[in-house]
Amino acid sequence: MPLTARLVADRDFVIAPLDRRVFGTFVEHMGRCVYGGIYEPGHAAADANGFRQDVMALTRELGVTIVRYPGGNFLSGYDWEDGVGPKENRPVKLDLAWRSTETNAFGTNEFIAWCRQAEVEPMFAVNLGTRGPDAARHFLEYCNHPGGTYYSDLRRSHGYEQPHGIKFWCLGNEMDGPWQTCAKTAQEYGRIAQETGKVMKWVDDTIQLAACGSSQRAMPTYAAWEYEVLDACFDQVDYISLHHYMRNDSDDIREFFAEIESLDYFIREVAAIADAVAAKRRSKKRIMLSVDEWNVWYKAHTPDDVKKPGWPKAPPLLEEIYNFEDALVVGGALIVMMNNADRVKTACLAQLVNVIGPIMTETGGPAWRQTIFHPIADCTRHGRGEVLRLKIESPTFATKAHGQIPCLLATAVFDPESGRVSLFALNRSTDEAMDLSLDLRGLGDGLAVIEAHELHETDLKKSNGKAAPDAVAPRPQTTGAMSGTVFRARLKPQSWNVFVLG
Ligand code: AHR
Repeated sequence: MPLTARLVADRDFVIAPLDRRVFGTFVEHMGRCVYGGIYEPGHAAADANGFRQDVMALTRELGVTIVRYPGGNFLSGYDWEDGVGPKENRPVKLDLAWRSTETNAFGTNEFIAWCRQAEVEPMFAVNLGTRGPDAARHFLEYCNHPGGTYYSDLRRSHGYEQPHGIKFWCLGNEMDGPWQTCAKTAQEYGRIAQETGKVMKWVDDTIQLAACGSSQRAMPTYAAWEYEVLDACFDQVDYISLHHYMRNDSDDIREFFAEIESLDYFIREVAAIADAVAAKRRSKKRIMLSVDEWNVWYKAHTPDDVKKPGWPKAPPLLEEIYNFEDALVVGGALIVMMNNADRVKTACLAQLVNVIGPIMTETGGPAWRQTIFHPIADCTRHGRGEVLRLKIESPTFATKAHGQIPCLLATAVFDPESGRVSLFALNRSTDEAMDLSLDLRGLGDGLAVIEAHELHETDLKKSNGKAAPDAVAPRPQTTGAMSGTVFRARLKPQSWNVFVLG
């Protein structure tokens, strides 16, 4: 007998409009993400800018909306001035974060040009490790001021007459982490974030700013860090960041699935802390959440994966090979972020290519989709509109991390413009199919299934590679049907499912 799950949606019960910036990603100067990833002059698929067009096409297909740059740990030792102006004058420097040599052949203006071509919004970060408010205000003036000042005219002299108009800025990266170049205490960071935010908004008051939250929920300073930092810079910032990397260390799929639940706790906890800081001030301001690094990452974690000996240029680092179970977990995390649409407004899958990326390349060779590419592309393609507040009755299973958790994870998004409802459903039972019914109150009349597919494999460890780039790929899901206002489908065990009703 299959499991059964009963869902109810009602047109009047909405969590929030979905901010499509939750479908963002991240490009760091690290490993082969920039060099050999998005940028490889001389590659057969590279254009005149050196942008690999095979990676560009896959980025467009992935459908990401906003891209964070230039780091990451790299950021905390980065001098932005090194990456602008004539390439022949750019200095070659040591990157302490990844023990690499940085040529600076790619920098701010190249990244903006790449974003325009990819049709994505840039999200920039300022170095609050080795630098501070002075470098941040000059960098912002360089990027966003129209002209007539030293830094804006410097940009124009570099061939960029129009300001870049970068709206979203991160104040540093993982400043709580001892691994960070010039890590800080919450008090030190809160103060520098406040002053940097203040002068940046004096330069351009249209920007949005994100303060660094904890670099993971397991940090010993977690929660106290968020409170102290926000207490210092509450008036200047609009967002607090969360970083969440999901692991399968015990090789137990149930505990791996529970990592998705940890993200849900993390989001709710950080929102509560931000609201506590607001309450202390009797403020109605709500700090929003930016999950600006998230993914599955645990396999490529040996010292050799993280740093290579010597100071190589663009060495292969963190080249995680994703398998089918990783794709399920990534899909689950996307569901959780959509179901928290009232607080999570931006999120960046870390990273885009090669470094824990949904896209893999061979330097000088082809590019292909990793398994996790598919649930992301599904969500970017069909996740638009308002996230409905679903009532879900589902069987549960036991985990060590979070006790009983539901087998079914699901979200439904209604697009008032097209009248479509998209249902994303993850069956976390590894051995039983699930009969799902969704009552679409106030929505269901006249709807029919217009697209349906699934990601399902019996082998959880199956992955894609250069020789078999489509070994794990979506297939049609043929069981879904409407009857009156009720949609019914049978989900395979351990499956990711997408149904579009319209
Ligand atoms: O994404 C890889 C690294 O993970 C980033 O540089 C850092 O911010 C995080 O620890």
